[in-house]
Amino acid sequence: MTRLLHWIVALMVLATMPIGVAMLQEGIQRSTQDFLFILHKNGGVIILLLVLLRIIWRVVTPTPALPTSVPHWQQRVAAAVQAALYALLLIMAISGYVRVRAGGFPVEMLDAVGMPTLVPRSETLADRAQAIHATARFPLAALILLHIAAGLKHAFARDGVFSRIWPPLGR
Ligand code: HEM
Repeated sequence: MTRLLHWIVALMVLATMPIGVAMLQEGIQRSTQDFLFILHKNGGVIILLLVLLRIIWRVVTPTPALPTSVPHWQQRVAAAVQAALYALLLIMAISGYVRVRAGGFPVEMLDAVGMPTLVPRSETLADRAQAIHATARFPLAALILLHIAAGLKHAFARDGVFSRIWPPLGR
């Protein structure tokens, strides 16, 4: 479950970020832009639900200890980076939701299941959420790169760390 959730969220975030940038480009066709917005908003809501599930799962099934070959400071940095990644994903998804809902726009997937709008209509709130959404992507991108670099280092070192999270399914 941990490995499957990790790789689904990883793939979805790696797709959602470039889609978010692409959909805001000047000069793209209206129909393409609408399609990218629908993918981005609804993908973002699915990421939010999966991250919440992942956090609950992590609390009920604690992560096994890292091999003792990994220096203590690296274990502490890894834990801090992972906590920051969870926090930034939550910030991105919630600020995206608030930006859209406070701006009076649909989130098609949630509308389809009859989910009520959880935030009031407000341009000020929408603008603040938009600013948070546009800013938090930078530390998120930086930490994702750091996380991937560390993962690759362990994969090449074959020290038993990467195989804790790989493969996504089965062994
Ligand atoms: C973890 C999930 C998410 C990530 C990583 C993400 C990432 C991004 C990125 C990188 C951009 C481009 C920002 C820019 O160039 O200024 C963006 C824009 C946007 N995102 Fe997200 N997003 C996520 C979730 C959501 C959700 C859940 C919604 C709405 C339900 C949403 C709605 C939007 C909107 C409306 C924009 C355009 C902002 C504007 O008005 O300028 N995002 N997102």
